[in-house]
Amino acid sequence: MVYRSYGGPEVLELAELPLPKAHVDSVVVRVRAAALNPADLAIQAGALDAAVPTYFPVIPGWDIAGVVESAGLAAPEFAPGDEVVGYIRGEVQRAHGGLAEVVSADVRTLVRKPRGMDFTEASGLPLAGLTAYQAVVRALDVRPGETLLVHGAAGGVGSLAAQIGRARGARVIGTAAERDHAYLRSLGVTPVRYGDGVADRVLALAPAGADAVLDTVGKGVLTACAAAARPRARLASVADIGLPGVTPVFCRLDGDDLKAVADLANSGRLSVRVGAAFPLERAADAQRALAAGGTGGRIVVTVAD
Ligand SMILES: NC(=O)c1ccc[n+]([C@@H]2O[C@H](COP(=O)([O-])OP(=O)(O)OC[C@H]3O[C@@H](n4cnc5c(N)ncnc54)[C@H](OP(=O)(O)O)[C@@H]3O)[C@@H](O)[C@H]2O)c1
Repeated sequence: MVYRSYGGPEVLELAELPLPKAHVDSVVVRVRAAALNPADLAIQAGALDAAVPTYFPVIPGWDIAGVVESAGLAAPEFAPGDEVVGYIRGEVQRAHGGLAEVVSADVRTLVRKPRGMDFTEASGLPLAGLTAYQAVVRALDVRPGETLLVHGAAGGVGSLAAQIGRARGARVIGTAAERDHAYLRSLGVTPVRYGDGVADRVLALAPAGADAVLDTVGKGVLTACAAAARPRARLASVADIGLPGVTPVFCRLDGDDLKAVADLANSGRLSVRVGAAFPLERAADAQRALAAGGTGGRIVVTVAD
């Protein structure tokens, strides 16, 4: 699936391209599933051109799960048949993403697929998992017994951040629409409805306020809900960059962090909720579903084996 100019889902087209080859330190992966992220839509629209240079034609998608076909000489970690997940946003790969039957990915972008996840679920792990891990562990350093407030806790990043907070022994309060409250409870997260009065609803549960707050929504929710945080609470955002006193988090490709995310999934402490899966030829419909929101989980493009 490629696009040759900026635009919405309508610029996506099926294309036959030469099969990617394994370079010395890369791995050829047959893609079984590729999860979509909001960044895919923004990049395709040209909105991130200053930060993410584009070389047309672009194969979009940064998250994959699949099966190794071959590995380069300097990639002994993987062998044909290994099941992997990857965050395949690299300098070489940025124009060659995951909405494809086969990709060639730098070995550092891949880890083994968690055992308990199928390909569709596992493809939702890399980008959102890395972002969530880097926010909760690196930026906020959430500790056992603390209260972590996650804005957008039912979303791709928020749901993983909430689970990582739980895995670190924190109490987690998550803002979400009412239809997602049962899902949050199933993760051990206390749900709170977002919108007017949200700070009061959080304070009713945690009168002293949250020790740490993660914003995965943007749109000023940190400011609107400032009263729900302790006076010296640690604050981080993946969506509103540049707020004073708020640590910005940008997803960074880091093999150790990706492994830590996969380990958490292997130990049963991380799950990915899939809202809908679309076959590769319907990738444009998948993008439309993501753009429409209210997806009830990740939107994933699946590729027949
Ligand atoms: N900095 C980075 O490296 C990085 C990495 C990944 C993502 N992001 C950004 O982070 C944001 C979230 O990404 P995502 O993949 O998690 O998206 P997502 O799966 O669409 O999740 C967003 C969630 O926020 C909820 N929401 C909407 N308005 C809300 C509000 N006012 N209060 C609380 N929750 C609200 C949505 O619920 P509804 O269904 O009710 O609308 C949805 O569950 C996007 O802006 C994305 O671009 C940044």
